[in-house]
Amino acid sequence: MNRVRTVRLKKSVDDSYTIEVGTSLKRTARDICRTIPAPCYFIITDHHVRALYARSFLQLMKTSGARVQLLSIPAGESSKNRQTKSMLEDQLLAGGAQRDSVIIALGGGMVGDLAGFTAATLHRGIRYVHIPTTLLSQVDSSVGGKVAVDHPFGKNLIGAFAQPEKVYIDVTTLSSLSSRDFSSGMAEVIKYGAILDRRLFSYLETNSGAILRRQRSALELIVDRSCVLKRRVVELDELETGPRRILNFGHTIGHAVELLSKFALSHGEAVSIGMVAEATMSNALGLCDERDISRLVHVLQQFSLPTSFPSRMRFEAVIAATAHDKKAREGRIEYTLLERIGKARVGVPLTQLDVMRLLKP
Ligand code: GLY
Repeated sequence: MNRVRTVRLKKSVDDSYTIEVGTSLKRTARDICRTIPAPCYFIITDHHVRALYARSFLQLMKTSGARVQLLSIPAGESSKNRQTKSMLEDQLLAGGAQRDSVIIALGGGMVGDLAGFTAATLHRGIRYVHIPTTLLSQVDSSVGGKVAVDHPFGKNLIGAFAQPEKVYIDVTTLSSLSSRDFSSGMAEVIKYGAILDRRLFSYLETNSGAILRRQRSALELIVDRSCVLKRRVVELDELETGPRRILNFGHTIGHAVELLSKFALSHGEAVSIGMVAEATMSNALGLCDERDISRLVHVLQQFSLPTSFPSRMRFEAVIAATAHDKKAREGRIEYTLLERIGKARVGVPLTQLDVMRLLKP
Protein backbone atom coordinates (compact mmCIF):
# COMPACT_ATOMS: atom_id res chain seq x y z
CA MET A 1 0.00 0.00 0.00
CA ASN A 2 1.21 3.46 -0.92
CA ARG A 3 1.63 5.85 1.97
CA VAL A 4 1.80 9.49 0.89
CA ARG A 5 2.96 12.01 3.49
CA THR A 6 3.12 15.76 2.97
CA VAL A 7 5.96 17.73 4.53
CA ARG A 8 4.37 21.10 5.22
CA LEU A 9 6.93 23.86 4.92
CA LYS A 10 5.05 27.04 4.15
CA LYS A 11 7.47 29.76 5.12
CA SER A 12 7.42 33.33 6.13
CA VAL A 13 10.94 34.71 6.26
CA ASP A 14 12.25 38.17 6.94
CA ASP A 15 15.48 38.75 5.03
CA SER A 16 15.32 42.54 5.37
CA TYR A 17 18.61 44.39 5.72
CA THR A 18 19.90 47.93 5.65
CA ILE A 19 22.21 49.63 3.18
CA GLU A 20 24.22 52.41 4.76
CA VAL A 21 25.67 54.92 2.28
CA GLY A 22 28.18 57.49 3.53
CA THR A 23 29.76 55.57 6.38
CA SER A 24 33.51 55.12 6.98
CA LEU A 25 35.46 51.89 7.42
CA LYS A 26 36.09 52.84 11.06
CA ARG A 27 32.39 53.29 11.80
CA THR A 28 31.64 50.11 9.82
CA ALA A 29 33.99 47.99 11.98
CA ARG A 30 32.39 49.32 15.18
CA ASP A 31 28.87 48.82 13.82
CA ILE A 32 29.49 45.22 12.71
CA CYS A 33 30.81 44.27 16.16
CA ARG A 34 27.85 45.95 17.87
CA THR A 35 24.95 44.95 15.61
CA ILE A 36 26.07 41.64 14.05
CA PRO A 37 27.81 39.95 16.99
CA ALA A 38 29.74 36.75 16.25
CA PRO A 39 32.40 34.68 18.01
CA CYS A 40 34.55 34.90 14.88
CA TYR A 41 34.64 37.01 11.71
CA PHE A 42 36.37 36.17 8.42
CA ILE A 43 37.22 39.05 6.08
CA ILE A 44 37.44 37.87 2.45
CA THR A 45 39.23 40.21 0.08
CA ASP A 46 41.56 40.21 -2.94
CA HIS A 47 45.30 40.94 -2.99
CA HIS A 48 44.71 44.44 -4.39
CA VAL A 49 42.13 45.52 -1.79
CA ARG A 50 44.09 43.75 0.94
CA ALA A 51 46.90 46.30 0.63
CA LEU A 52 44.55 49.26 0.13
CA TYR A 53 41.93 48.72 2.85
CA ALA A 54 41.68 45.18 4.23
CA ARG A 55 44.77 45.18 6.44
CA SER A 56 43.71 48.38 8.16
CA PHE A 57 40.11 47.13 8.38
CA LEU A 58 41.41 43.99 10.14
CA GLN A 59 43.07 46.24 12.74
CA LEU A 60 39.88 48.30 13.13
CA MET A 61 37.90 45.11 13.79
CA LYS A 62 40.50 43.95 16.33
CA THR A 63 40.41 47.35 18.06
CA SER A 64 36.64 46.93 18.34
CA GLY A 65 37.27 43.66 20.20
CA ALA A 66 36.55 41.14 17.43
CA ARG A 67 38.22 37.77 16.81
CA VAL A 68 38.92 38.09 13.13
CA GLN A 69 40.91 36.47 10.31
CA LEU A 70 41.80 37.82 6.88
CA LEU A 71 41.63 35.61 3.75
CA SER A 72 42.85 36.96 0.44
CA ILE A 73 42.59 35.71 -3.15
CA PRO A 74 44.16 36.95 -6.41
CA ALA A 75 42.35 39.97 -7.91
CA GLY A 76 40.37 39.66 -11.16
CA GLU A 77 37.31 37.88 -12.55
CA SER A 78 39.41 34.74 -13.21
CA SER A 79 39.36 34.04 -9.44
CA LYS A 80 35.57 33.78 -9.41
CA ASN A 81 35.44 30.02 -9.85
CA ARG A 82 34.75 26.76 -8.02
CA GLN A 83 38.44 26.13 -7.33
CA THR A 84 38.87 29.42 -5.44
CA LYS A 85 35.63 28.76 -3.57
CA SER A 86 36.92 25.32 -2.46
CA MET A 87 40.19 26.86 -1.35
CA LEU A 88 38.33 29.47 0.71
CA GLU A 89 36.14 26.76 2.25
CA ASP A 90 39.26 24.82 3.29
CA GLN A 91 40.72 27.96 4.87
CA LEU A 92 37.47 28.89 6.60
CA LEU A 93 36.98 25.43 8.09
CA ALA A 94 40.65 25.14 9.09
CA GLY A 95 40.31 28.58 10.68
CA GLY A 96 37.40 27.35 12.81
CA ALA A 97 34.40 28.83 10.96
CA GLN A 98 31.17 27.70 12.67
CA ARG A 99 27.50 28.26 11.85
CA ASP A 100 27.49 31.47 13.90
CA SER A 101 30.60 32.93 12.21
CA VAL A 102 30.23 35.93 9.91
CA ILE A 103 31.94 36.47 6.55
CA ILE A 104 32.78 40.05 5.59
CA ALA A 105 33.13 40.55 1.82
CA LEU A 106 35.48 43.52 1.39
CA GLY A 107 36.15 44.43 -2.26
CA GLY A 108 34.52 44.66 -5.67
CA GLY A 109 31.89 42.51 -7.37
CA MET A 110 34.12 39.47 -7.81
CA VAL A 111 34.90 39.33 -4.07
CA GLY A 112 31.27 40.00 -3.12
CA ASP A 113 29.85 37.31 -5.42
CA LEU A 114 32.41 34.70 -4.37
CA ALA A 115 32.37 35.45 -0.63
CA GLY A 116 28.57 35.68 -0.63
CA PHE A 117 28.23 32.31 -2.40
CA THR A 118 30.76 30.75 -0.02
CA ALA A 119 28.69 32.06 2.90
CA ALA A 120 25.50 30.73 1.29
CA THR A 121 26.77 27.14 1.27
CA LEU A 122 29.20 26.87 4.21
CA HIS A 123 27.43 24.94 7.00
CA ARG A 124 24.33 25.24 4.71
CA GLY A 125 24.46 29.01 5.02
CA ILE A 126 26.11 31.45 7.39
CA ARG A 127 25.68 35.21 7.74
CA TYR A 128 27.67 37.64 5.62
CA VAL A 129 28.16 41.39 5.22
CA HIS A 130 29.06 43.38 2.10
CA ILE A 131 31.55 46.24 2.12
CA PRO A 132 31.76 47.04 -1.63
CA THR A 133 34.73 49.15 -2.69
CA THR A 134 34.07 49.67 -6.43
CA LEU A 135 31.34 51.77 -8.02
CA LEU A 136 29.91 48.75 -9.87
CA SER A 137 29.59 46.73 -6.66
CA GLN A 138 28.25 49.70 -4.65
CA VAL A 139 25.41 50.41 -7.08
CA ASP A 140 24.64 46.89 -8.26
CA SER A 141 26.05 43.58 -7.04
CA SER A 142 26.12 44.28 -3.28
CA VAL A 143 22.34 44.78 -3.24
CA GLY A 144 19.87 42.05 -4.13
CA GLY A 145 21.47 38.82 -2.94
CA LYS A 146 22.68 37.37 -6.25
CA VAL A 147 25.85 35.43 -5.42
CA ALA A 148 27.69 33.09 -7.77
CA VAL A 149 30.84 31.79 -9.38
CA ASP A 150 31.59 31.54 -13.10
CA HIS A 151 31.89 28.34 -15.15
CA PRO A 152 33.85 27.90 -18.40
CA PHE A 153 30.42 27.84 -20.14
CA GLY A 154 29.51 31.31 -18.86
CA LYS A 155 29.40 33.88 -16.09
CA ASN A 156 27.49 33.32 -12.82
CA LEU A 157 26.23 29.88 -13.87
CA ILE A 158 26.57 28.37 -10.38
CA GLY A 159 25.09 30.42 -7.58
CA ALA A 160 22.25 31.24 -5.24
CA PHE A 161 20.10 34.02 -3.87
CA ALA A 162 21.43 34.84 -0.40
CA GLN A 163 20.81 38.24 1.11
CA PRO A 164 23.52 39.87 3.26
CA GLU A 165 23.05 40.98 6.88
CA LYS A 166 23.95 44.53 5.94
CA VAL A 167 25.68 46.59 3.22
CA TYR A 168 28.13 49.34 4.21
CA ILE A 169 29.15 51.84 1.53
CA ASP A 170 32.06 54.24 1.98
CA VAL A 171 32.34 56.26 -1.25
CA THR A 172 35.84 57.48 -0.32
CA THR A 173 37.06 54.01 -1.38
CA LEU A 174 36.20 55.08 -4.95
CA SER A 175 39.17 57.48 -4.94
CA SER A 176 41.51 54.54 -5.59
CA LEU A 177 39.57 53.29 -8.66
CA SER A 178 41.09 53.68 -12.13
CA SER A 179 39.16 55.99 -14.50
CA ARG A 180 38.21 52.96 -16.55
CA ASP A 181 36.73 51.06 -13.58
CA PHE A 182 34.96 54.21 -12.46
CA SER A 183 33.38 54.67 -15.90
CA SER A 184 32.40 51.02 -15.95
CA GLY A 185 30.39 51.55 -12.75
CA MET A 186 28.85 54.71 -14.22
CA ALA A 187 27.27 52.59 -16.99
CA GLU A 188 25.05 50.93 -14.37
CA VAL A 189 24.18 54.29 -12.77
CA ILE A 190 23.20 55.65 -16.19
CA LYS A 191 21.13 52.49 -16.73
CA TYR A 192 19.11 53.19 -13.54
CA GLY A 193 18.40 56.70 -14.77
CA ALA A 194 17.43 55.49 -18.24
CA ILE A 195 15.02 52.75 -17.12
CA LEU A 196 13.62 54.08 -13.84
CA ASP A 197 14.43 57.67 -12.96
CA ARG A 198 14.52 60.61 -15.38
CA ARG A 199 15.56 62.99 -12.56
CA LEU A 200 18.66 60.89 -11.86
CA PHE A 201 19.33 60.85 -15.62
CA SER A 202 19.14 64.67 -15.81
CA TYR A 203 21.38 64.95 -12.73
CA LEU A 204 24.02 62.84 -14.49
CA GLU A 205 23.74 65.00 -17.64
CA THR A 206 24.30 68.23 -15.72
CA ASN A 207 26.75 67.10 -13.02
CA SER A 208 29.23 64.92 -14.90
CA GLY A 209 32.10 67.28 -13.90
CA ALA A 210 31.54 66.88 -10.15
CA ILE A 211 31.01 63.13 -10.51
CA LEU A 212 34.16 62.68 -12.59
CA ARG A 213 36.11 64.73 -10.02
CA ARG A 214 34.69 62.20 -7.53
CA GLN A 215 33.23 64.90 -5.35
CA ARG A 216 31.98 63.12 -2.26
CA SER A 217 28.49 64.67 -2.13
CA ALA A 218 27.87 63.89 -5.81
CA LEU A 219 29.05 60.30 -5.37
CA GLU A 220 26.89 59.78 -2.28
CA LEU A 221 23.90 61.13 -4.15
CA ILE A 222 24.24 58.85 -7.19
CA VAL A 223 25.20 55.75 -5.17
CA ASP A 224 22.33 56.26 -2.71
CA ARG A 225 19.81 56.88 -5.50
CA SER A 226 20.99 53.78 -7.39
CA CYS A 227 20.63 51.67 -4.23
CA VAL A 228 17.13 53.06 -3.59
CA LEU A 229 16.11 52.13 -7.15
CA LYS A 230 17.65 48.69 -6.96
CA ARG A 231 16.03 48.11 -3.55
CA ARG A 232 12.63 48.95 -5.07
CA VAL A 233 13.08 46.39 -7.85
CA VAL A 234 14.43 43.66 -5.53
CA GLU A 235 11.58 44.17 -3.02
CA LEU A 236 9.13 43.63 -5.88
CA ASP A 237 10.82 40.53 -7.33
CA GLU A 238 13.67 39.11 -5.28
CA LEU A 239 14.09 35.94 -7.38
CA GLU A 240 13.92 37.60 -10.82
CA THR A 241 10.73 35.96 -12.02
CA GLY A 242 9.49 39.14 -13.72
CA PRO A 243 9.94 42.83 -12.85
CA ARG A 244 13.61 42.45 -11.79
CA ARG A 245 14.40 41.76 -15.45
CA ILE A 246 14.10 45.51 -16.00
CA LEU A 247 17.70 45.63 -14.74
CA ASN A 248 18.75 43.63 -17.81
CA PHE A 249 18.44 46.66 -20.09
CA GLY A 250 21.61 46.72 -22.23
CA HIS A 251 22.75 43.38 -20.84
CA THR A 252 21.56 40.91 -23.52
CA ILE A 253 23.60 42.57 -26.28
CA GLY A 254 26.12 43.71 -23.64
CA HIS A 255 26.93 40.19 -22.42
CA ALA A 256 27.40 39.04 -26.04
CA VAL A 257 29.79 41.95 -26.71
CA GLU A 258 31.69 41.27 -23.46
CA LEU A 259 32.06 37.59 -24.41
CA LEU A 260 33.15 38.29 -28.01
CA SER A 261 35.73 40.82 -26.81
CA LYS A 262 37.13 37.97 -24.65
CA PHE A 263 36.63 40.33 -21.70
CA ALA A 264 38.96 42.97 -23.17
CA LEU A 265 35.93 45.24 -22.75
CA SER A 266 34.87 45.75 -19.13
CA HIS A 267 31.33 44.85 -18.07
CA GLY A 268 30.28 48.51 -18.00
CA GLU A 269 31.80 49.23 -21.42
CA ALA A 270 29.95 46.26 -22.93
CA VAL A 271 26.68 47.25 -21.22
CA SER A 272 27.11 50.79 -22.53
CA ILE A 273 27.31 49.46 -26.12
CA GLY A 274 24.41 47.11 -25.33
CA MET A 275 22.20 49.95 -24.02
CA VAL A 276 22.67 51.99 -27.19
CA ALA A 277 21.93 48.94 -29.37
CA GLU A 278 18.84 48.04 -27.36
CA ALA A 279 17.65 51.68 -27.38
CA THR A 280 18.09 51.64 -31.17
CA MET A 281 15.94 48.51 -31.32
CA SER A 282 13.34 50.21 -29.10
CA ASN A 283 13.26 53.16 -31.47
CA ALA A 284 12.92 50.91 -34.53
CA LEU A 285 9.91 49.30 -32.81
CA GLY A 286 8.40 52.73 -32.23
CA LEU A 287 8.87 52.56 -28.44
CA CYS A 288 11.23 55.47 -27.80
CA ASP A 289 12.17 58.41 -30.01
CA GLU A 290 15.48 59.50 -31.54
CA ARG A 291 15.97 62.20 -28.92
CA ASP A 292 16.06 59.56 -26.13
CA ILE A 293 18.84 57.70 -27.99
CA SER A 294 20.82 60.93 -28.47
CA ARG A 295 20.54 61.77 -24.78
CA LEU A 296 21.66 58.26 -23.84
CA VAL A 297 24.63 58.32 -26.23
CA HIS A 298 25.63 61.78 -25.04
CA VAL A 299 25.61 60.96 -21.33
CA LEU A 300 27.52 57.71 -21.89
CA GLN A 301 30.15 59.65 -23.83
CA GLN A 302 30.38 62.24 -21.04
CA PHE A 303 31.63 59.34 -18.89
CA SER A 304 34.04 58.09 -21.61
CA LEU A 305 31.99 54.97 -22.35
CA PRO A 306 31.89 53.37 -25.84
CA THR A 307 28.57 53.58 -27.68
CA SER A 308 29.05 51.45 -30.81
CA PHE A 309 30.31 47.96 -31.60
CA PRO A 310 34.13 47.75 -31.81
CA SER A 311 35.13 48.01 -35.48
CA ARG A 312 36.49 44.47 -35.62
CA MET A 313 33.37 42.94 -34.08
CA ARG A 314 30.86 41.77 -36.67
CA PHE A 315 27.37 42.74 -35.71
CA GLU A 316 25.97 39.40 -36.99
CA ALA A 317 28.40 37.63 -34.63
CA VAL A 318 27.13 39.71 -31.69
CA ILE A 319 23.53 38.76 -32.44
CA ALA A 320 24.49 35.10 -32.84
CA ALA A 321 26.25 35.22 -29.45
CA THR A 322 23.02 36.32 -27.72
CA ALA A 323 21.75 32.73 -28.26
CA HIS A 324 23.60 31.74 -25.06
CA ASP A 325 21.61 34.27 -23.03
CA LYS A 326 19.94 32.83 -19.91
CA LYS A 327 16.69 34.48 -21.05
CA ALA A 328 16.57 32.61 -24.40
CA ARG A 329 13.37 30.52 -24.84
CA GLU A 330 12.51 28.61 -28.04
CA GLY A 331 14.58 30.87 -30.27
CA ARG A 332 13.28 34.08 -28.69
CA ILE A 333 14.96 36.28 -26.12
CA GLU A 334 12.94 38.51 -23.84
CA TYR A 335 14.49 41.95 -24.10
CA THR A 336 14.04 44.92 -21.80
CA LEU A 337 13.51 47.90 -24.08
CA LEU A 338 13.35 51.64 -23.53
CA GLU A 339 10.02 53.49 -23.75
CA ARG A 340 11.48 56.89 -22.88
CA ILE A 341 14.16 58.21 -20.52
CA GLY A 342 13.04 56.97 -17.08
CA LYS A 343 10.76 54.18 -18.30
CA ALA A 344 11.38 50.71 -19.75
CA ARG A 345 9.32 47.73 -20.88
CA VAL A 346 10.18 44.21 -19.69
CA GLY A 347 9.77 40.97 -21.65
CA VAL A 348 9.70 41.94 -25.34
CA PRO A 349 10.26 38.59 -27.15
CA LEU A 350 12.49 38.88 -30.23
CA THR A 351 14.18 36.33 -32.49
CA GLN A 352 17.73 36.84 -33.78
CA LEU A 353 16.23 37.70 -37.16
CA ASP A 354 14.01 40.39 -35.58
CA VAL A 355 17.08 41.90 -33.87
CA MET A 356 19.03 41.77 -37.13
CA ARG A 357 16.28 43.69 -38.92
CA LEU A 358 15.90 46.23 -36.12
CA LEU A 359 19.61 46.96 -35.94
CA LYS A 360 20.47 46.81 -39.63
CA PRO A 361 22.25 50.05 -40.46
N1 GLY B 1 22.51 42.89 -11.66
C1 GLY B 1 21.14 42.69 -11.91
C2 GLY B 1 20.39 42.12 -10.76
O1 GLY B 1 20.88 42.14 -9.65
O2 GLY B 1 19.29 41.67 -10.93
